[in-house]
Formats: sequence, structure tokens, C-alpha cells
Amino acid sequence: MSATYETRGPVAVITLNNPPVNGLGLSTRKGITEGIERASNDPAVKAIVITGAGKAFSGGADIREFGSPLASASPDLLSVIAAVEGSDKPVVAAIHSVVMGGGLELALGCHYRVAAAGTQVALPEVKLGLLPGAGGTQRLPRVLGLETALNLIVTGDTAKSEQLAAQPGQKLFDKLVDGDVLDAAIAFASDVADRRPLPRVRDLKVSHPEPDAYLQFARNTVGAMSKNFPAPLQCVEAVAAAVNKPFDAGMKVEGEIFAALMQTPESRAQRHMFFAERAASKIPDVPADTPVRAIAKVGVIGAGTMGGGIAMNFLNAGIPVIILETKQEALDRGLATVRKNYEAQVKKGKLAQDKLDQRLALLTSTLAYDDLKDVDLVIEAVFEDINVKETVFKALDEVCKPGAILASNTSTLDVDKIAAFTKRPQDVVGMHFFSPANVMKLLEVVRGAKTAKDVLATVMALGKKIRKTCVVSGVCDGFIGNRMIEQYSRQAGFLLDEGASPQQVDKAIEKFGFAMGPFRMGDLAGNDIGWYIRKRRYIEQPDMRYSKTADLLCELGRFGQKTSAGWYDYVPGKRDANPSPVVAEMLEKHRAALGITPRRISDEEIVQRLVYALVNEGAKIVEEGIASKASDIDMVYLTGYGFPLHRGGPMCYADTQGLFNVVASMKKFAKNPADDAAFWQPAPLLAKLAAEGKTFS
Ligand code: 3HC
Ligand code: NAI
Repeated sequence: MSATYETRGPVAVITLNNPPVNGLGLSTRKGITEGIERASNDPAVKAIVITGAGKAFSGGADIREFGSPLASASPDLLSVIAAVEGSDKPVVAAIHSVVMGGGLELALGCHYRVAAAGTQVALPEVKLGLLPGAGGTQRLPRVLGLETALNLIVTGDTAKSEQLAAQPGQKLFDKLVDGDVLDAAIAFASDVADRRPLPRVRDLKVSHPEPDAYLQFARNTVGAMSKNFPAPLQCVEAVAAAVNKPFDAGMKVEGEIFAALMQTPESRAQRHMFFAERAASKIPDVPADTPVRAIAKVGVIGAGTMGGGIAMNFLNAGIPVIILETKQEALDRGLATVRKNYEAQVKKGKLAQDKLDQRLALLTSTLAYDDLKDVDLVIEAVFEDINVKETVFKALDEVCKPGAILASNTSTLDVDKIAAFTKRPQDVVGMHFFSPANVMKLLEVVRGAKTAKDVLATVMALGKKIRKTCVVSGVCDGFIGNRMIEQYSRQAGFLLDEGASPQQVDKAIEKFGFAMGPFRMGDLAGNDIGWYIRKRRYIEQPDMRYSKTADLLCELGRFGQKTSAGWYDYVPGKRDANPSPVVAEMLEKHRAALGITPRRISDEEIVQRLVYALVNEGAKIVEEGIASKASDIDMVYLTGYGFPLHRGGPMCYADTQGLFNVVASMKKFAKNPADDAAFWQPAPLLAKLAAEGKTFS
């Protein structure tokens, strides 16, 4: 049983004990109801305290049970809370550390709540595509008022217990304590043991001067802000029921909406993402307790586009950084950009002036490698040229202290080759940030053949500290993300060959949910970058087929926004993409030269071809062990490439479509003479899972 029972004088103490966060799984739920019953039957017990062992009161319903019969097995959470609320002896929640979701709903079912200061309080169900389904939408507005409660429920944001306890008129906490919360709750329970009637949150009214007007305002704003996600608006409807209906009728509304949301693909995707994010931080052969190296100071080589942004991540986390450049002008330029970025944040009110000063005070610069003697980690972000990398890594090997981690931000070069430039390949690792490096969440951690396990553990822990989503990739061309995007771009080119326009392709995939289609993205990043890479590919992989359209575009000097002309036309200084007659004519001529009669391609086909191109390459990446699991690929795409969050990533999306159907579509595309039959050869892993009726997850 994952809840324990003991008595302290006349007070029974039920302690939830279901690590890691006392999720309210079946065994814990049974423990609570049995504890209530036992206390009720013991005449010596006058009051009951419920608390949580370890690092949480409770993180809520056990998400691992969702989708299995365990979630609704008796007693379900609603019955547990009903038993608590219906107890004829007072029940006091002793809340500490974390009280979230069903955990908070359980506490709201108690007659009293004593909380430790500093407790994280939230109803985060909306982040899982759900709403609080055990009375949270009905009880929280009754104790915190309509506005505060609705805000918490719709955003899923975390508030500190002292913040909520300070709200005028709040009835969430009966007492806030700084010391031992369990002792305080037991003392509180003894004090109130004889008080009757027992207070119940359900008997309170939701307070607001103009609830209907406020709810309408909430519907309008939430509806506008939560495109693609049904849960936030449904949260408003459930809270509206708390205002407009008697408690039990409100509970019925909440229950119906909860059950419906649980079946939505958006909720499935968000739940997948919750676990995928946590799974990404685990490396199968690197135990969680691997000792990490201390990182007190970081060196960055190169103060260009990436170097400055990389440095900012560490400054933001309070870690001193020294940047090295070859020339003073380059250094000055880089430092000025860092300062400008921080000043822009101050202007927008996102950063206080004194924080800016503190951060810049942590930043030093140099032209001399000798000054890197004391750094614990150095990240190289110089030109993407193996000869330049060789010079840098040989210099680092000379000056850096033993045990310092030497990382490269290379996006295309072989990390093993770079490691071999040093006498300490075990200390070399790839840290592939995405641009802008101070903003983008994704960090691909590239594991070389000889990278030491403690180096990986250190970089993963550090990545968490600088608030990145870290995903480990093996060494291959493009690592996980760029290797996949290349297949997506190739497919986008084939679509143009066959008759689609750049704007049609972009619109179709943007409607699917991508922030930007491949052609607008190419114009933003610079089409010359891909051109440079393709020129290398034509030599290294002469059999790989590409559409020639992107090369033709670059031959016209249309590199994108920076030349005010790319796949689209741009008014200089503006970012609006206007369909280009020059590009349309270029495409027409190209098709005529190939002898292709353009055909109308449906948006559905466009989306399938682009997304399944990602899926097939993703399957190869998993099969080769470059990624250790399919969900890592989803994390890369969700956090680094603008894949729509509500679809859970390419592999999760393929699962929802059914892998059999994915393979069937690929076979159909392979028969299209204008496409590339080899391209659509399903990866063996994909073919196997499809044949077995399985999924990636
Ligand atoms: N159920 C099951 N496991 C959970 C869980 C939950 N509710 N919450 C967290 N965990 C697990 C994580 O999966 C992870 O497991 P792992 O070590 O095996 O990967 C472990 O707890 C630690 O999680 P974190 O790495 O996130 O640890 P932190 O200390 O950084 O954060 C936390 C702890 C604040 C509780 C955070 O995990 C969190 O926000 N959890 C989600 C809470 C949530 O969404 N609750 C609502 C659940 S739905 C619900 O209650 C429905 C109800 O209304 C009916
Ligand atoms: P950049 O050209 O903007 O900056 C490179 C900087 O390195 C320049 O300031 C240059 O003066 C400096 N430099 C060159 N040789 C040096 C040396 N020997 N010692 C010290 N400094 C030296 O390049 P960018 O875009 O910042 O790229 C850097 C690295 O990051 C490359 O490996 C690139 O592939 C990678 N990368 C780039 C991304 C991008 O979007 N720009 C994204 C992810 C990785």
C-alpha cells in the first residue's frame, strides 16, 4: 500500500508514499480511503491529517495510469475525495513542497489546509490537454475567487503558497507555516477536533461582482490565445458551471468535459510530450547517479551569431563566461551584440536593469588562449570549417586544465574527428545549440565514440540548469534534427517539380500547425546555406536525388530576406512574404525542361509527404541508435523545429495516424514517377512496426 497510517495521540496521520511525487495511483487511493475508514472506526482518534512523504504532498493523479483501467479502478479519485470530505472527523491537509492537480483537489476535499511556505501550488492539467477532473474547477474558485482561480486553471501556472495565502479573503489555506508542517497540522487538528459543523469547500459560493461579464471576457481572450488546443476554453466552461450551477451539477459538467478531453488527440500529444521530455534527460547506459563535474566557469570560442547567444545562457544562470576571439573588432562586435540583446530585454520590461548589470559583470573577454586555463567547460563556436576547428581544439588541448570539458557547437562536422585533434577525446562532446541560442529550447548533446559518461551526465545536468531541453544524438551528418530536415526539404523540392507553388506548400504545412513552411523558413535562414551543403553532397553522395529548383533560385541570387528576394519577394526591411512572379516563371521553365506536366496536389498530400519524410528518416535514426528512442525525435522537432505542439512530434503523429497507414501512403508515393521511389522505401523499423500493428511509443 503506498500510503501509511499511524496515530499521534488523538490524531491519525495518513502519509502518501508513492515516489517520486506521490501520484494518486490506485494503491495510494486505496491507502487513503482505508486510512479514513480506520480513523473513523477508532474512537481514540479525534482528527485526521493527510500528508505526503518525500519531496511532495502530491503531484496529482498518477499520469502513468492514464489510458489504463487502473485510472478509474475503485476507489477512483472522486470517491476518495468524497470519503475525505464526508468524514465525520475533521481532516486536515498538511501541505508542503508540491501540491498539484489531483493532489490539490484532494487537499480541497479536506476540511482544513495547513501549508508550508514555499509550496508550489498548481492545477496544471491544462498542460496535459485536460482540466482538473476531481473537483478542482468547482472548488478552487470557491476558495480563491473567480479571477485568481480561473487564471490558475486556464494557464496551469504554479503559484507559491505564500502568494496565495496573501490574497484578501482567500480560504485556500487556514494556516501558513515556516517550520515543520506536519507538527503544525497535527497541533491544528487537535485544536479543531471538536469543532462542528465541519467546513466544506463545496458549501461556499464563488465570489465575483460581475461573474457573467468576466466569464465572457475570459472566453474571448482564452479562445483567441489557445488556437489548436481545446482544453483552455473548456476550463472556462467548467468554471462557469461553478458560478452558475449548484455544486453537484457543476461537478457533473466538469466530469463530462474531463472525459471528453481525455480522448482528444491534443491531450494524447501533450501527455506524450510530458513523458518524452523527462525521458530525453535519461541516457540508457549512463546511470542517473553518475557523478558530474563541477562547472563554475565557461569559455566560449567565437563571438559570432552563436557564440554570443551561447554565452548569454550561462550568464543568465549566474555562471561566469569568458569569450575568446582572434581579433579585437570581432570581440567588440560580439560583446556589443550581447549587450544590445540584454538592453532590448530591459526595454521590453523582461529584465531589470540591475540584473543586466549583474549578468554583464559575469562576462569577460580575451584574445589569448592562456586565459582559458581555469575554465571547466569550453564551447567552440567558430567558422564551420574542419581546419579552423582543428586549430582551436589543438590550442584548447594545450591550455585547458585536466578534466575540462571541450565542446563543439558544430552543426555538420564529425565530432569524433574533432575529438581526435586532442589527446583527450573522452572529454570532447558536441553541444549543438539552435539559433538564436539564448532563446531556442533545444540542445542536441552529441555523443562521440569516446565521450566519457560523466561528461554526458555533466552536460545534461548543465543543460537543465540553463533551461534547455537536452536530447542526446550519436554522431552522423546533421545529427538528429538537421538530418531529418534535409529529407523534408528534398520532398518540398519534389513538390515544386510536380506543380505545387512555394506558397501552396507553406500554407498547407502552416495550416497543419508548423509556425513556418519550408520556403518561408528558407528565406528567413538564407537559401545559400542549403546551397553550400548541397554542393558538398553532390560530391559526397552523387546518387542522392534533389530537385534543382533551390539551386536555380540561388543562381538568381535570391538568398531570401537578406537579399529581399528568395522564394518570395520582400520589400526591403520588411518581412512580409509576397508571391514572386519571377519564381513562378522559373518553376514553369524548370518543369518544362523536365517534361513534367504540372498537376494539382492536394494539401493533404503535401502534409503527408513532408511529415512522413521526417518520420521515415526518424525511424532510421532510431534504428541506427543515433537517437535512443522515438520520443527523443519528437522532442527535437517540438523544441527546435516548430513542429506543432498539439500533434506531439512527428513520431507521435505517425502513431496517431497508424503506422500501417503511414507505410501504405509511402508505398503510394513511391509509385509516383515524378517522386523518388528510393526515398519512400520504408525504414526497416517502420515497416516492422507497421506489419506488427505496433507504434513507435
Ligand atoms: N504522475 C506520475 N508521475 C509523475 C507525476 C504524476 N502526476 N508528476 C511527476 N511525475 C514523475 C515524472 O514522470 C518523473 O518521473 P521519472 O523520474 O521516472 O522521469 C518524476 O516524477 C520527477 O518529475 P520531474 O522531473 O518533473 O521532477 P521535478 O521535481 O522537476 O518536478 C513536479 C516535480 C513539479 C511534480 C513535476 O513533475 C510536474 O509538474 N508534474 C506534473 C504534475 C501534473 O501535471 N499533475 C496533474 C496530473 S493530472 C491530474 O491530477 C488529474 C486530476 O485532475 C483528475
Ligand atoms: P559566425 O561566422 O557568425 O561566427 C564565428 C565567429 O568565430 C566569428 O566571430 C569569427 O571571428 C570567430 N572565429 C573564427 N575563427 C576563430 C578562431 N580560430 N578562434 C576564435 N574565434 C574564431 O558563425 P556562427 O553562425 O556563429 O557559427 C558558429 C558555429 O556554430 C559553426 O560551427 C556553425 O556550424 C554552428 N552553428 C550555427 C548555427 C547558426 O544558425 N548560425 C546553428 C547551430 C550551430
